[in-house]
Amino acid sequence: MANPFIPAPSILSADFANLEKEINEVMDAGTDWIHVDVMDGHFVPNLTIGAPVVASLRKIKKAYLDCHLMIEEPDRYIDDFIKAGADNITLHIESDGNMADMLKKIKSQGVKAGITLRPATPLSAIATFLADVDLVLVMTVNPGFGGQSFMQDQVDKVDELKRLREENNYKYLIQVDGGVNGETKNQLANADVLVAGSYIFKHKDGYKEAIRILKEKP
Ligand code: DX5
Ligand code: ZN
Repeated sequence: MANPFIPAPSILSADFANLEKEINEVMDAGTDWIHVDVMDGHFVPNLTIGAPVVASLRKIKKAYLDCHLMIEEPDRYIDDFIKAGADNITLHIESDGNMADMLKKIKSQGVKAGITLRPATPLSAIATFLADVDLVLVMTVNPGFGGQSFMQDQVDKVDELKRLREENNYKYLIQVDGGVNGETKNQLANADVLVAGSYIFKHKDGYKEAIRILKEKP
């Protein structure tokens, strides 16, 4: 049987007044990935959290802190996220800066490096980095906000990434982010990690049930 999906709860949809409790609860529900959406109000219209919050989260429990940087100039902040204890740092190809250098900087500190792209950006834009990254994130909404609808036309990228990985013996995990729920995940058989914010944190039957459903491969 295929490995189950790894659910990565996005804390963007969590109760920020009770972040410690929320994180402990989703981890007790059966996952250790915690997806942290970092937005700067420039690269995306929304403004969220930065490295100090990651440093605080680091103290809670041994969560795998998966940081998705939606910021214009990530190079200015990479060191801060590494110092804060990020386990993975994912960068947008549309951000400023030298991508090869930034990925190298992340990996040289023993942190996993991911790359991602907006829905409008073709996969060819990241082709040269596929051999070097630990994770490729396919955005299935326009980055910026939780609670948007899944963009079905992005699923081809997931399938193509799986094909490229097999063909070239690449090592990256394939992650999907945006509008993932108990139904849309059925189109994502070729993915490994599913980010979900509203589906998990607003599930009527609780986090445990949401995470159980999200783990099941179609
Ligand atoms: C969007 C973020 C997502 C978001 C997902 O820019 O990258 O991680 O929190 O939220 P849902 O699962 O509600 O679409
Ligand atoms: Zn995200």
